[in-house]
Amino acid sequence: MGDEISIGIAIGKVILIGEHAVVHGQPALAMPFPATKVKTAIYRKEGSLTLDCFFYNGFFSEVPDRLLGLTTIIRDIVNSFDEKLEDFRIRIESTIPPERGMGSSAAVAVATIRALYDFFRQPLTKEDLFKWANISEKIVHGNPSGIDAATVIGEEPIYYIKGKSFIPFPFKLDAYLIVADTGELGKTQAAVNDVRKLIDLNPQKGRSLIEQLGFLTRNAKDAIESKDIVKLGQIMSKAHLILDKLGVSNDKLNHLVSVAMRNEALGAKLTGGGRGGCMIALAATKDEAIKLSNKLILNGAENTWISNMGVDGNEE
Ligand code: MEV
Repeated sequence: MGDEISIGIAIGKVILIGEHAVVHGQPALAMPFPATKVKTAIYRKEGSLTLDCFFYNGFFSEVPDRLLGLTTIIRDIVNSFDEKLEDFRIRIESTIPPERGMGSSAAVAVATIRALYDFFRQPLTKEDLFKWANISEKIVHGNPSGIDAATVIGEEPIYYIKGKSFIPFPFKLDAYLIVADTGELGKTQAAVNDVRKLIDLNPQKGRSLIEQLGFLTRNAKDAIESKDIVKLGQIMSKAHLILDKLGVSNDKLNHLVSVAMRNEALGAKLTGGGRGGCMIALAATKDEAIKLSNKLILNGAENTWISNMGVDGNEE
């Protein structure tokens, strides 16, 4: 393979509440998700640049559209160092399911930027990291709010308002978050575009739904601050209904959300861009989280992760 390995790591993210509304100026709450991560390794080698592969749990899943943002920033970063693209090889391995609303594209970009700066012995500032990650995200997602890159780079929960503030919101809750993958590719960009169309065509309805989501996010923040997990769960479920009205859910997401609610979840909703991708459910105890996770798998989830919201880090 060659030597001089530089490694860059980045972890995935989960949006607790406020997705889509955040694109339109409302707040959102997101947290890092260390159970999923990306590793980019760079090797010195003769020949042309090779984007070796993109692995998700051992499966090769190269999606050219998704890689366009990445290849663009790789080229531009290398050019900015006055280096040549020819003589290295990049290998990306990820346990973040791609295109499932878990921050895969942002994490791949961040891990790769970190590895590139290390490889070329360049000091990497947070500003550079944001700049390049957001360039890549714009190519992949059109006009993203920036919440994915901010959460992946910050590696702590945040309360985020597009273009305004990005407040670290570290919290510990005596609760468990279950993330379930529908197994269907999410369609963030199409969903974001359709929400915009809905707002353009029917501003009263569209804006009202976006504002209701913003209201729920502020309430969710209060519920977290007062450690009221029952209320938080109820707010999450309300947010799912509004996201469904916005047209960003789908049958499988709705199915898994109702499976979770029938099995004593405190609340459940889609997470991220929707139209596929992942859903989340809140459980009060580890036993309930494991039970819920099993039920979700039995009812069609492709994969699940359980995150302990009371301690740092996640467990599967
Ligand atoms: C994607 O993770 C979250 C969305 O709100 C899009 C964005 O914020 O850019 C759907």
